[in-house]
Amino acid sequence: MSIISKDIQKAVQLLTEEQLVAIPTETVYGLAGNIFSEKAIKSIFSTKQRPFFNPLIVHISSVKSLNNLVTHVPEKAKLLAAAFWPGSMTLVLKKSKTIPDIITAGKDTVAVRVPNHPITLALLKKLPFPLAAPSANPFGSISPTKPAHVENYFRNSIKMVLDGGSCANGIESTIIGFENEEPVIYRLGALPLEEIEAVVGKISIKNKKEEKPDAPGMLARHYAPKTSTFLVDDVAGEIEKNKGKKMGVLVFKSSLNNENITEIILSKNGSLQEAASRLYSAMHDLDSKNLDLIIAERFSEFGLGKSINDRLQRATFK
Ligand code: TXA
Ligand code: MG
Repeated sequence: MSIISKDIQKAVQLLTEEQLVAIPTETVYGLAGNIFSEKAIKSIFSTKQRPFFNPLIVHISSVKSLNNLVTHVPEKAKLLAAAFWPGSMTLVLKKSKTIPDIITAGKDTVAVRVPNHPITLALLKKLPFPLAAPSANPFGSISPTKPAHVENYFRNSIKMVLDGGSCANGIESTIIGFENEEPVIYRLGALPLEEIEAVVGKISIKNKKEEKPDAPGMLARHYAPKTSTFLVDDVAGEIEKNKGKKMGVLVFKSSLNNENITEIILSKNGSLQEAASRLYSAMHDLDSKNLDLIIAERFSEFGLGKSINDRLQRATFK
């Protein structure tokens, strides 16, 4: 029997019983549990096989809930929250004592966001506690943007995926931390850099592949298909080099008109928003076709193109 259901009341019940429910957000599906339940939080880590050094994002229904969770909100964080919540932005702020250390991997900061999805906002309003929710995929795998993706990963380990349809934005939230009161991007994501800078001015980016990353979404290999994946400017040239192999190709808007390849066009009318929303689903599809390799076209480093390139780059590391 399918674990996909639209029954919000059942989700409330499971979460209240310290169990996990996969929840829809506008970015990707999350694997959610009560932040105050040690049992639920441990089970998030074990279900995902996620290392404990990787902290979780806390999801709340409105900015009002922030006061109980953090001790200080920098001025520019207030501006960002007012501009973009509910939305695809996570703020990393100094945590209050109420947040269990297991949520933050012992850090003195906590990542928080108000997701922009009507079903999950309704769910959060019915619950007396916030939800910790990492993306609902095994550690390092492609994030889920449809209920069926989550079901394929976790049908034997969780009881319910709350059905909220396909995720409108399709890549994870942009994570912003603060250093000396100034915002710093820790992870590029669904909220384009340019929109953030329009609110708080020029912002520095620490979205590097580091040994001990501030945000492990920054680990070099992440969001990765099992099939070897290559990110290139010249897709036709790469196809030529791999003649005879079974190839999947991910292009932005123009078809290569090559019948020997499996091609997915992310947005025929060239919309970055549409391309981002379809990116992971396309990666899931190509990854299920037993191909020898996947070739992805590099996007222009502008707006969401920058975030899409970041995810594609991390999908290519071996
Ligand atoms: O769009 C999203 O953000 C989705 C949906 C479900 O909300 N969630 C998500 O969670 O992508 P996850 O766990 O896959 O990624 C959370 C990222 C990780 O890279 C983690 O290291 C970082 O947030 N993070 C969490 N707490 C942090 C903290 N205190 N300081 C720095 N980074 C933190
Ligand atoms: Mg993730």
